[in-house]
Amino acid sequence: MTDIAKITLGDTTVENPVLKGTVGPDVVDIRKFYAQTGAFTYDPGFTSTASCESQITYIDGDEGVLLHRGYAIGDLAEHSSFMETCYLLLNGELPTGDELGKFTHTITRHTMVHEQLSTFFRGFRRDAHPMALMCGIVGALSAFYHDSTEIHDPHQRMIASHRLIAKMPTIAAMAYKYSVGQPFVYPRNDLSYTGNFLRMTFGVPAEEYEIVPAVERALDRIFILHADHEQNASTSTVRLAGSSGANPFACIAAGIACLWGPAHGGANEAALNMLREIGRPERIPEYLARAKDKDDPFRLMGFGHRVYKNYDPRATVMQKTVREVFDALKVNDPVFEVALQLEEMALNDPYFIEKKLFPNVDFYSGVILSAIGFPTTMFTVLFALARTVGWVAQWNEMISDPAQKIGRPRQLYTGPAHRPFVPVDQR
Ligand code: CMC
Repeated sequence: MTDIAKITLGDTTVENPVLKGTVGPDVVDIRKFYAQTGAFTYDPGFTSTASCESQITYIDGDEGVLLHRGYAIGDLAEHSSFMETCYLLLNGELPTGDELGKFTHTITRHTMVHEQLSTFFRGFRRDAHPMALMCGIVGALSAFYHDSTEIHDPHQRMIASHRLIAKMPTIAAMAYKYSVGQPFVYPRNDLSYTGNFLRMTFGVPAEEYEIVPAVERALDRIFILHADHEQNASTSTVRLAGSSGANPFACIAAGIACLWGPAHGGANEAALNMLREIGRPERIPEYLARAKDKDDPFRLMGFGHRVYKNYDPRATVMQKTVREVFDALKVNDPVFEVALQLEEMALNDPYFIEKKLFPNVDFYSGVILSAIGFPTTMFTVLFALARTVGWVAQWNEMISDPAQKIGRPRQLYTGPAHRPFVPVDQR
């Protein structure tokens, strides 16, 4: 028997079915609530609202659990590769060796971008933020790949998904090259997804680029950690944009725009800038005091999460990865020591304990990316590169869902009621 949640409003009692997921909280289905009561529900920021049904990613924020298609993020980070995780997110199951080989081959064969796209880059200022380039260039893909924009054709949807996953590293590397005034480097099909990206970013035509295996592995793992994260702001943006029937390239560009904000993907850039500003462990108390001061807008970047009220499981893997990269590159950046001490002091501070504020994925990622050689402005670009698979998997799922409707939230209107128009000479 279906559970019912009764809600009484005035004289009307509405019986709302309670939906049950595989795991996680029950969901009260209020779709008929407005029709039966004439009232809307109010939930700015969607703190209590499920916007869709999904089978891709599950998060238990209280326990610090993150599963993709049922597999724990820690297991994927340790045993899987980014390509395999992409296959899993898109198709629902881990691939066999043969399936993985074919999938990797397909992605590799889509890494080049239309040559005309390079002239697009040249329209931007060299000092533009690379995320500004990403928003523009990814949106522009819809002007180049007309044969994969028919969203009701599953085959075209899959080609668009493969193209986006494959071309994102090429575009991201081009955005970097453009900002430093170096020539674009074409993809190479004999390299791994991540190795190819490193070469396109840091290689120059004058000499062969040497891929450091530990760095390749660490970056691949960072991509796994960012691949999907349920109905976060940018994914919800992609779904909302896609719900109107917009083409996939335009939808992903919308996701990139949302991701750019410092409360979302931009936090990794902000976290490293903050750690560098702190500079020395002695200055940590000053910054902790600012973070706790209600009158100061400063927040501890890389700390806190809408969903995790426990240690973000991705942060655990990140912290381990910092050490691996530092060892491989023989780096000793004092910023890591500041990060470790800041984490320890915050985790023992009553303010952070009471509000359940823990390090999130962005707290350590900037430290690693900086050691590899990426400037801070590229951090969010890397996040976008990795999250593209999550965005396309969620977009595909939404388009295939028979219950899918255009997303159209309602509002609590508090502006003026109807009033007569006064001509300008009488105001
Ligand atoms: N430093 C200090 N205080 C904080 C912090 C922080 N980083 N995060 C939350 N708080 C306080 C906040 O002031 C509020 O206090 P009070 O209840 O007294 O008003 C309380 O904790 C709850 O905060 P909230 O803003 O209502 O929580 P939220 O769920 O809306 O925000 C968040 C989540 C991630 C936007 C927020 O924690 C934040 O701004 N963190 C810093 C930015 C950051 O690291 N973002 C990356 C998120 S993970 C990557 C991603 O998903 O993109």
